Formats: sequence, C-alpha cells, structure tokens
Amino acid sequence: MKVISIFNQKGGVGKSTSAGNLMAEFTKRGHAVLGVDIDPQAHLTKFLACGESDGATICELLGGEAKFIDVAQGSKYGDYIPSDRSLATRLGALADDPAFVFRLRELLAEQTDTYDYVIIDCPPAVNQLTVAALVASDYVLIPTEAEYFSMDGVCEISRTIGQVRGSKFLNPALKVLGIFFTRYRSNLTIARDMGEVMEQAAKELFGSEVLRSRIPNTCDVPESQAAKKAVAEYKPTSKAATAYSALADEVLEAIG
Ligand SMILES: Nc1ncnc2c1ncn2[C@@H]1O[C@H](COP(=O)(O)OP(=O)(O)OP(=O)(O)O)[C@@H](O)[C@H]1O
Ligand SMILES: [Mg+2]
Repeated sequence: MKVISIFNQKGGVGKSTSAGNLMAEFTKRGHAVLGVDIDPQAHLTKFLACGESDGATICELLGGEAKFIDVAQGSKYGDYIPSDRSLATRLGALADDPAFVFRLRELLAEQTDTYDYVIIDCPPAVNQLTVAALVASDYVLIPTEAEYFSMDGVCEISRTIGQVRGSKFLNPALKVLGIFFTRYRSNLTIARDMGEVMEQAAKELFGSEVLRSRIPNTCDVPESQAAKKAVAEYKPTSKAATAYSALADEVLEAIG
C-alpha cells in the first residue's frame, strides 16, 4: 500500500479535484483505492457521497470513538473516509494529544492488506492535520496554478515538508513525487514562464520535478463535479480527462 498526500496550503489550487479524479483513474486501472478527506470543507466527501450522511467521520476515527470499518464508505471511485465541519471545531481537542500526528499513520497501517493506494486530500492549511497526513504518507503530490503568487505556496510547503522529513520521529522517508500544474492556461505567457520557474524550484526545494501532465483550465471540470462524476466519466474525450489519465499514469509509473 502506498499513501499519497495531495498538499498545498494555498486554497483553491485543485487538491480535491485532483484527489477525486486520481481516485477514479486508479480505480479504473483495477487498483483498490481509499480516499481520506481530512479537510473540514469536506469537498472530496461531497464529491464522492451519494446522499446526505450523518454517520461517523474522520473526526470520530481520529478521536478513537469509531472503528475504520464503521467510518469507511464505498463509492464508484473507491472507498473513502468522510469528513465534515466538526473536524474544524474538534481539531484543538483532538490535537491536544501529543501523539495526534501519528494517529492517521497508525490507522492506515491496519489497512495495508486492503488497499493498494491511499489518497489524502489535505485542507488549505498547515496544521496538525496536515502534519498527520505527511507523517502517514509515503509520497506528497503538489498541485499548483501557474501564477506569480504560486511560488509563495510552494516555498511554504517546502518548509513544512522539510520539517517533517528533518525529524527522525516524524517521516524522514517522505518523498516529493512532484509539482503539477492545475487550471493551466497554455495561452498565458505567465503560465509558460512559471513552468521554468517551478522546474527550478522543484529541483532546488525538493530534489524532484514538475510532472509532464498539466491539467487544463476548463469548464468541463466544475461541470463534472456538479454532476458528481470524474471528468473522464463526464466527458471522456475532454482535454481534462486525457490530462488526469496521463497524470495517473505518470504517478503510477513513478511509484510503481
Ligand atoms: N482544471 C480545472 N479547470 C477549471 N476549474 C477547475 C479545475 N480544477 C479545479 N477547478 C475548480 O477550482 C475550484 C477549486 O478546486 P478544488 O476545490 O479542487 O481546489 P482545492 O485546492 O481543493 O481547494 P481548497 O484549498 O479550498 O481545498 C473548484 O471550483 C473547481 O471546480
Ligand atoms: Mg479541497
């Protein structure tokens, strides 16, 4: 089982969109997939859920009040651990436990025989939840827009990842799979320029690269989400569907 966190503390860069579409792509390839929503906004949950649920969430799982089997839900794109707003209000109390950042790793370690890939959708923040995700992960995948202020986000991430990798008690083995561009507008000069800037930053900050697959900015993506479908199911011939398929191949090739 390989655990991948999709992380960027900058908001709205396509983390949840990429988590949902990668889950769909991995599932399509026959892999057993688990999505873990650790964002109180619960966008991945809302994308995957069939209806309203008042069942247990990641909150009760992390708090030790519910078992994995009772929290995990099924979806057409794989199983998932749902989140909801209560995660924001309870985080302080949960993280009061000094061992909190290890909790997710412990919980996922019990699932190694069940899943091939776990995809964690992180919130747009650096807090104990994101540290817990990075501690539980083998890999981190960084979506970013190709814009001027995107560099700020990437520098911030490198600090957090550096801290997690720098401690032998946290996760020195954490690998950065790479940065990839989302909402990419190839007609903009700044987008093309940022390609070079990010390439350099990826090398210097993470010893990794910018992935070849770029997810184009297209209304097919928000439309597919409104239809609660992965873009590959909603519009199989769209450029976004091709790009997410290529991204999945690239990621699987990199991690085996
Ligand atoms: N390739 C794309 N083309 C057009 N719109 C997109 C694309 N990817 C994502 N979006 C839209 O951008 C918005 C933000 O995407 P998403 O929720 O995936 O980002 P996020 O990084 O998870 O946000 P947050 O930081 O709030 O969790 C959504 O409305 C989504 O539909
Ligand atoms: Mg999100």
